[in-house]
Amino acid sequence: MSKQDKKLRKKVETEIQEHKQTVESDTYRQNYHHMPPVGLMNDPNGLIQWEGTYHLFYQWMPFDTDHGAKYWGHYTSEDLVNWKYEEIALTPSDWYDKDGVYSGSAIVHNDQLHLFYTGNIEGEDGPEAEYQCLAVSRDGLNFEKKGVIIETPNGYSSHFRDPKVWKKGDRWYMVVGAQTEDKQGKAVLFRSKDLYTWEHMGPIAGGHEGKLGEFGYMWECPDLFELDGTDVLMVCPQGLEAVEMDYANTYQSGYFVGQWDETAGTFQHEDFRELDRGFEFYAPQTTRDEKGRRILFGWMGVPDQYEQAHPTVEHGWIHCLTIPRELKWNGKRLIQTPVPELAHMRGPVLMHSSITIENDQKAVRGVQGRSMELNIDLESLEDMFAIELFQYASLSYKDHVVTLSRPHLEDRSKTEFRRVRLEEGLKDLRLFIDQSSLEIFINGGEEVFTSRIYPQAEEEHILFTSLGATTFTVEKWDLKGYEYS
Ligand code: FRU
Repeated sequence: MSKQDKKLRKKVETEIQEHKQTVESDTYRQNYHHMPPVGLMNDPNGLIQWEGTYHLFYQWMPFDTDHGAKYWGHYTSEDLVNWKYEEIALTPSDWYDKDGVYSGSAIVHNDQLHLFYTGNIEGEDGPEAEYQCLAVSRDGLNFEKKGVIIETPNGYSSHFRDPKVWKKGDRWYMVVGAQTEDKQGKAVLFRSKDLYTWEHMGPIAGGHEGKLGEFGYMWECPDLFELDGTDVLMVCPQGLEAVEMDYANTYQSGYFVGQWDETAGTFQHEDFRELDRGFEFYAPQTTRDEKGRRILFGWMGVPDQYEQAHPTVEHGWIHCLTIPRELKWNGKRLIQTPVPELAHMRGPVLMHSSITIENDQKAVRGVQGRSMELNIDLESLEDMFAIELFQYASLSYKDHVVTLSRPHLEDRSKTEFRRVRLEEGLKDLRLFIDQSSLEIFINGGEEVFTSRIYPQAEEEHILFTSLGATTFTVEKWDLKGYEYS
């Protein structure tokens, strides 16, 4: 460990201790979502299961509730419910990462955990240079930096980051999020035999590649994987205009399915689809775990989307990650479902069969609280059905459209909306509610809304509204939350 590294770690420790009380006294602290101990959390990084243990790293700015010179924070878990705080994995201590140890991924090779990340050097107005770097570890806790392994190829701007690495056959592959000199977002492919020397294979997708026209000025956080017989490229394009119900957030997070040809270095793909329809979701990352599942964590935030308006800022922290979800491909779309391990957080179940509400608004006995899971199966729905949460947010369904609304974070006198169309109607809803977030899985996870919510601290009421008659069943569990050590 270098002197600078030691110094930075100490500074973070002091910062945590200084703000501990303010941060922890916030009623918006979550029960089962990863949060920064202080400061700002963004992308999940380096997600991997190694010899049973899940490693989850994250982008962390400890000294501000804004972005800056990021660290890699680190959690581990054996079961995705009991989590351990680990020492900081990486600090911005070297010339090539001094303004941020930016996002990246993990793989295991020769009994060593390898972290690939972007070293950021900040200029006047955005990055001056971004290097793809490597750090390795034998114990999964202490990392030795190996320095720069890839410099930005010609034709690209200094926005070149977020390496995601995987193995196919006897080769390693990497996709990097990029911007060309003429401001087109791209996903760029590299390959390697030894993880140190990388061959640039060119863009596999991006604006004006294949059938795609103009598609944003920068692509962040690409992730390419095989799932249930198809190839999936997840990516976060910046610069898409909102179209009707789509692309409503400042930046997007979605996927293309298609066919990746590793020899030709090409990816033939279908249209882009958004992964999530809520107010806060970005920079998801996946890994294949030891059970063979494709597990995803996302960031519950969006860069440059009125971030300072989140009220947690007053308590010295901002943002959190989503719950872990399993991804499946059903031949038509990606399906996201909360991992079954989360059931370990459940208290006793409360069940109601066949409740009918007709032209009325009602509470349902026992269905209240803040940290809970709610399953609602619709048996019949005539006209409009809505759930009002904590006199704050509302989820409604009418004419095949689901709408989530909440007071605008910047101006509470206004309401903001996110919507999606369900061609086949609304069949079921699964809500994971925490102190200050909502994750709504619709029709078995075909659509998801992920959002922060900031109701009054003690507000626990949920009301169901129906125009015409709606008949549904409810299951509800209080969730005790993650255990930390
Ligand atoms: C996405 C992102 C990445 C970058 C990281 C920096 O939210 O901008 O592209 O590596 O955050 O924290």
